Amino acid sequence: MMILSQWVVPKQLRLLLQFSVVPGQTNILLPRPGYPFYKSCAAFCGIEARDYNLNLERNWEIDLDSLKSVADKITVAMVVINPGNPCGNVFTCDHIWLRSVAYNLVAQTAKKLGILVIADEVYYHLTFGTKPFVPMGTFGSLVPVLTVGSLSKRWVVPGWRLGWIAVTDPRGYMLWRIKEIDCITCPYKPEGAMSAMVKLDLSLLEDILDDVDFCCKLAKEESVIIIPGSAEPSTLEDGLERVKSFCQRHAKKH
Ligand SMILES: Cc1ncc(COP(=O)(O)O)c(C=O)c1O
Repeated sequence: MMILSQWVVPKQLRLLLQFSVVPGQTNILLPRPGYPFYKSCAAFCGIEARDYNLNLERNWEIDLDSLKSVADKITVAMVVINPGNPCGNVFTCDHIWLRSVAYNLVAQTAKKLGILVIADEVYYHLTFGTKPFVPMGTFGSLVPVLTVGSLSKRWVVPGWRLGWIAVTDPRGYMLWRIKEIDCITCPYKPEGAMSAMVKLDLSLLEDILDDVDFCCKLAKEESVIIIPGSAEPSTLEDGLERVKSFCQRHAKKH
């Protein structure tokens, strides 16, 4: 799922942190050297920021021992910046690049530590070396991954305050939850792009005229915006729950 927002990336991060942690009782792990804004972001949210090292001798790879040494029971997330700012490194998998610590080892370590990964991939399209870029979302079945992206770097438009947070859904959580809603089916499991085209069975609803009416009433009653002919709720869990209760309320009473 992708949430396109009109906030700058730092604002998205503040939002992420504010909603995912309890101030004073949590900490997050940041790369050193890293993008300094994360520290002020954490301070603003009242969260302790702890540094883990990147290793110059190993092409600025994540020092896993350092990462493990700073994590504890109240660590909630680690930030990975790839391609890295300010070091200019690109993380990849060691089966391709033997000298590199496997990027998937980072995901496995995060899994063992029980933390989520915030993958800052705003420089995704700005790679010019020989290493292939591997998105952290690739390991989304192993560990929860929130990917942060931004327009300003990709299209070289400094000042354009538009970015997104992508949540990887490799286990098909959305389709699984849709099955709980009688009047909506998803005949084709999406394999690309970022939408799911669902089928609405109007015969199961008593006061909905068509898909546009469905979307308008859903927006009014549940504040979930979906596009007629496609579905893209703002937050997956909450959005689907509201769609479900809306359908139940409007279901034909036999
Ligand atoms: C690593 C990193 N993340 C996030 C940002 C913020 O991106 P934006 O300026 O598009 O909000 C920057 C900007 O320099 C950055 O270097």
